[in-house]
Amino acid sequence: MLVSTHSSLQICLHADTPLEAVADTPLLWPNPMANTESQHRGRRQVLRTDAARSYHRPAPNLKRPAQAVSANTVIEFSGVSKKYGTGAFGLDQATFAVDREDFVFLIGSTGSGKSTVMRLLIKELEPTDGTITVAGRDLKTISRRQVPFYRRNIGVVFQDFKLLPSRTVYDNVAYALQVTGHSRKEIRAKVPDILRLTGLSTKLHNYPDQLSGGEQQRVSIARAFVNHPPLLLADEPTGNLDPETSIDIMRLLYRINRTGTTVLVATHDHAMVDKMRRRVLELSRGRVVRDEATGLYTRDESTREFAQRLRGPSETPQIL
Ligand SMILES: Nc1ncnc2c1ncn2[C@@H]1O[C@H](COP(=O)(O)OP(=O)(O)O)[C@@H](O)[C@H]1O
Ligand SMILES: [Mg+2]
Repeated sequence: MLVSTHSSLQICLHADTPLEAVADTPLLWPNPMANTESQHRGRRQVLRTDAARSYHRPAPNLKRPAQAVSANTVIEFSGVSKKYGTGAFGLDQATFAVDREDFVFLIGSTGSGKSTVMRLLIKELEPTDGTITVAGRDLKTISRRQVPFYRRNIGVVFQDFKLLPSRTVYDNVAYALQVTGHSRKEIRAKVPDILRLTGLSTKLHNYPDQLSGGEQQRVSIARAFVNHPPLLLADEPTGNLDPETSIDIMRLLYRINRTGTTVLVATHDHAMVDKMRRRVLELSRGRVVRDEATGLYTRDESTREFAQRLRGPSETPQIL
């Protein structure tokens, strides 16, 4: 069932959910952390055990065919093409689906169409052909006026961080809440929480140019995740970072995924992708040329185990 109201765009997957029940639920599926009360109750758990282990997670669906669409499907591209004004094809008949709570890598060389996928998903672009659905809602049915409300469901992280240079770390994150109409009280409660989760508690008053690249990317992730969106898109988030810092950023995205948010990461960092052993969707010239559930991982590994694996078995385990 798809529901939209004047104040917000609501997308709900469950056909049997009465309208009233979703009237105040502006998310695709609320991330378990999105609810203030559970966020408060779950905070220690998330921070200390570094994952929302107690939340129900579906079993990994390693053999899923690319086109299977279930009640759990968050993103579905069906024969999607995007032809730019120049005649270049950003996407060419791309078909794939991403399930709820998945962590998926979108890989491919420069120009293969990764950013086009991201921009289509946030409705910055419209497809030339095909259908894109998010939580069962055809994006064509979302009007220009509704787009800002739709985008509140999606956190976006970019390669170049896109921070406001004249604002502190705290204010960069608070700003994301201000523009979505949160009260000062909510902002005061949420910003320190997210900065703690992203390891930035000691940098509240720093300006972006006083931070390392990795720290700046953490701020941008904090900003993208402060509303606990059910879907997080990251377009080359480690593109400007060294390998060790990249591991930390991936570990943070993994931690976010484990709170119940579906994560789609575009990257051309093959070494990282090989180590992470998550599902890989590969694009080449706008076409999906690989859709592989690169198994062999356990969903319940801790972020420490996860980071150790990324660093490689030969290295001394580190205290994280
Ligand atoms: N604004 C644009 N105008 C014209 N062509 C574009 C534009 N953006 C992307 N393209 C083309 O679309 C293709 C895919 O680009 P993009 O999605 O940015 O790839 P990637 O993110 O994988 O590097 C490329 O051939 C690129 O030249
Ligand atoms: Mg790109």
